[in-house]
Amino acid sequence: MLDEQIQVNRTNWNERTPVHAASESYDVEGFKTGRSTLHDVELHEIGDVSGKSLLHLQCHFGLDTMSWARLGAKATGVDFSDAAIDLARSLNRELNLDVRFIYSNIYDLPDALDEQFDIVFTSYGVLCWLPDLDKWASVVTHHLKQGGMFYIIDGHPAMNVFEESDAGDLRPTYPYFHKEFLWEGGEPSYAGSEIIESPVYEWHHSLGEIVTALIDAGLRIEFLHEFPFSGYRAYSMMKKDSDGWWRFPEHNESFPQLFSIRATK
Ligand SMILES: C[S@@+](CC[C@H](N)C(=O)[O-])C[C@H]1O[C@@H](n2cnc3c(N)ncnc32)[C@H](O)[C@@H]1O
Repeated sequence: MLDEQIQVNRTNWNERTPVHAASESYDVEGFKTGRSTLHDVELHEIGDVSGKSLLHLQCHFGLDTMSWARLGAKATGVDFSDAAIDLARSLNRELNLDVRFIYSNIYDLPDALDEQFDIVFTSYGVLCWLPDLDKWASVVTHHLKQGGMFYIIDGHPAMNVFEESDAGDLRPTYPYFHKEFLWEGGEPSYAGSEIIESPVYEWHHSLGEIVTALIDAGLRIEFLHEFPFSGYRAYSMMKKDSDGWWRFPEHNESFPQLFSIRATK
């Protein structure tokens, strides 16, 4: 069943990739002329990456991976979407960068890659596509050197519980705790306005589930930070501020919207 779900999701991400690549939010042209896609938060919380080996899990079409490489990291990006990895490789060639991109389901990565890294990094919209966090955390640990750093910044699970009514109110509707969803297609993605026709599976994980999976896999958590801003327009009333983050016009501080974790093996 799991493989079937992974196949469904891969088809969905292959459909999304060209839409994202053509979107204003990903701004590929700006990236080509030197724009970094990394945010102050992860730059500050990870620190200097120069000369370090860095594995980027669920790298999509690689803009963040290549941004880390521009800062001197020896970067490797992994994603299960062949459309995304093909595009990442072609941008990497065009921009004369030296990033390795690997096409793999995250759960199969230990079979595809026999290496450990100084840093394992993953960000913005990753855990909700993964059914099993214990298995995910064991892949993270497997690819981390002893003493190496794991870093994640992702949407806060508390943001997943709301449904927006036609009147623009937010109602707690979905479970905060572990839950599987199958969304039929027919909606635009978070970037670009085209309709994505294919269905996708999504999984909710609570913050406790995430932290406990990392601890059980043998990592020592250094910090867990929560932020009152989002990387994308999660609900229609949110507004983008001049610092590039999205916020609610009212009661913004009532919502944890992103979290980051740094951990050591
Ligand atoms: C929202 S994107 C990550 C966004 C990325 N931070 C960016 O801004 O481009 C999620 C990525 O996870 C990948 N993905 C989902 N499930 C996966 C799996 N089981 N194995 C590997 N990659 C997966 C998708 O192909 C997609 O590229």
